[in-house]
Amino acid sequence: MLKMGESIQVGDVHYTVQRELGSGRFGSVWLGLDMTAPANKVIREHQARYRAAALKVLKRDSDFDFSEAVNHGLRCRSELPPDLSISNSLAPKLISHGAVEIACTEFIEGPMVRTIIGQLRRAQDSELEDRRLEEALLLGKRLMEMAGELLDAGVIHSDMNPRNIVVTPAGKPKAVDIDFLRRVTDMPIKKNGVPVRIGSERYISPEVKDGPGYSRVSDLYAISGIVRDLVNVAAGRSLRDASLMFGRRDLQALISYFPSSLQERFFGLIQCVVEGLNPIPEKRPQNSTEIRDLMHQEALRTSEPAPALKVS
Ligand SMILES: Nc1ncnc2c1ncn2[C@@H]1O[C@H](COP(=O)(O)OP(=O)(O)OP(=O)(O)O)[C@@H](O)[C@H]1O
Ligand SMILES: [Mg+2]
Repeated sequence: MLKMGESIQVGDVHYTVQRELGSGRFGSVWLGLDMTAPANKVIREHQARYRAAALKVLKRDSDFDFSEAVNHGLRCRSELPPDLSISNSLAPKLISHGAVEIACTEFIEGPMVRTIIGQLRRAQDSELEDRRLEEALLLGKRLMEMAGELLDAGVIHSDMNPRNIVVTPAGKPKAVDIDFLRRVTDMPIKKNGVPVRIGSERYISPEVKDGPGYSRVSDLYAISGIVRDLVNVAAGRSLRDASLMFGRRDLQALISYFPSSLQERFFGLIQCVVEGLNPIPEKRPQNSTEIRDLMHQEALRTSEPAPALKVS
């Protein structure tokens, strides 16, 4: 637990604790501001310095070397390109502060995808329905692009869920909470010698749930599930059974509920979500090119209805 106004030194920067951002299974996250930096300006003179930091006070777990896993995640992030859609770690990454350990990352400003899904669910004005659906589909596209970017970088976030993705003011989704970030080539995270199953129940892929464990496309499965949920809530009443249709891979039926202006533009995205949710990892798109190709696919133009058969 941190106190408001408390100063936390991360490298040569002193962050003043502002408020708690939230808490979850592995700790509580606090917003810290560097009060000496000019307002409204993120400082990137050297990669590790930001005006705002997300400071995660790690929970203790006596039989799980959690800090080792987190340290690995933070180190892994610092070896990736800074502009990748994942919050950056701050030097010196994991710090000891009194009796607690704090994982230090860049603060990402903006609503969580969970907040956006909640807003869409509450907006029941049918006049806005098409607009809502369009916005959700656009965010869906950005999310699939993010999935492709991470696939190409060869990293697995391990816990993609709507609370761990923040949408920046520019509309770009960024993954936060990089405790379990790892390279696809890394060993699984273990507790008492057994691989740990990290993830959020609703978005967890079959290979993680029932074995053999994380594959390089497990995040893609989770992100596809998030986009499915976005589309479902945005489509509202007109598309009550959307998740069923996603499940049955019934694209033409699903897309036919969209207003015609959106059908062609977003057919490829829906196709991509369905492929991303394939229970067999090898059958999901494997890189950003495959994702992009799928997203650019156009709906099959249904030509003249087939002539009725003449029975002689
Ligand atoms: N780098 C960050 N920038 C902005 N917000 C962040 C950042 N890291 C975490 N948060 C926010 O802090 C809150 C708490 O995060 P935390 O990861 O502890 O819990 P959670 O995501 O709700 O649950 P879980 O334990 O399943 O991850 C979340 O709302 C999350 O969006
Ligand atoms: Mg989280």
